[in-house]
Amino acid sequence: MYVAPSLLSANFLKLEEDVKAVCEAGADLLHIDVMDGHFVPNLTFGPCVIKNIQKISNTPLDVHLMVQNVSSFVDMFLPLKPKFISFHIEAENHPIRLCEHIKKQGVNAGIVLNPHTPISMMKHLIDYVDLVLLMSVNPGFGGQEFLPLVYEKISELRELIDKKNAKVFIEVDGGVNGLNASNLEEAGADILVAGSYIFSSKDYKTAISSLKLEF
Ligand code: DX5
Ligand code: ZN
Repeated sequence: MYVAPSLLSANFLKLEEDVKAVCEAGADLLHIDVMDGHFVPNLTFGPCVIKNIQKISNTPLDVHLMVQNVSSFVDMFLPLKPKFISFHIEAENHPIRLCEHIKKQGVNAGIVLNPHTPISMMKHLIDYVDLVLLMSVNPGFGGQEFLPLVYEKISELRELIDKKNAKVFIEVDGGVNGLNASNLEEAGADILVAGSYIFSSKDYKTAISSLKLEF
């Protein structure tokens, strides 16, 4: 199980300290929530903050775009060469073309599904993506309550991936904590994103280890 702390819940006044601390505590990826105030009712960081994060950390970046004008945001983040760039299927009319564009730049392409969006949306897309990110909250804010409907979606997606013999990561984002991590793994998740659970804990290492199910 890989763990991606969401920097949305970090202390922005001590961002350097928090980034270094979660990396040392075992973060596999840094989850970067990019919000545009249109697709979701919130605003966060842009490429210049991310460039500065890359100066102090080698941990690969997992960029989650919660934006309306997807392709122009993709082009803003591609030069930073994150490990993954994921965009919402609800915001993009030409996802195959966009995934191919991302992958041509040597970056892994991900598609994100809101809680209400069915897995069947991925039926003809699964061969084009490296990752599917399933939202287990309505996107826009950290610290929301986990929606258990995601368990069924993970199992359904795992079935689709296995049937197609595709090599695709399943990531879950929203309300992830030490109580639901093992159920999420059992259902078939590969990467867990966690913001408030990690950053509100006293000890990042213990929190991250509890999500990796290492005790
Ligand atoms: C929500 C974001 C999440 C958020 C998760 O829109 O995509 O990545 O930071 O935060 P928690 O883990 O607190 O739900
Ligand atoms: Zn996210």
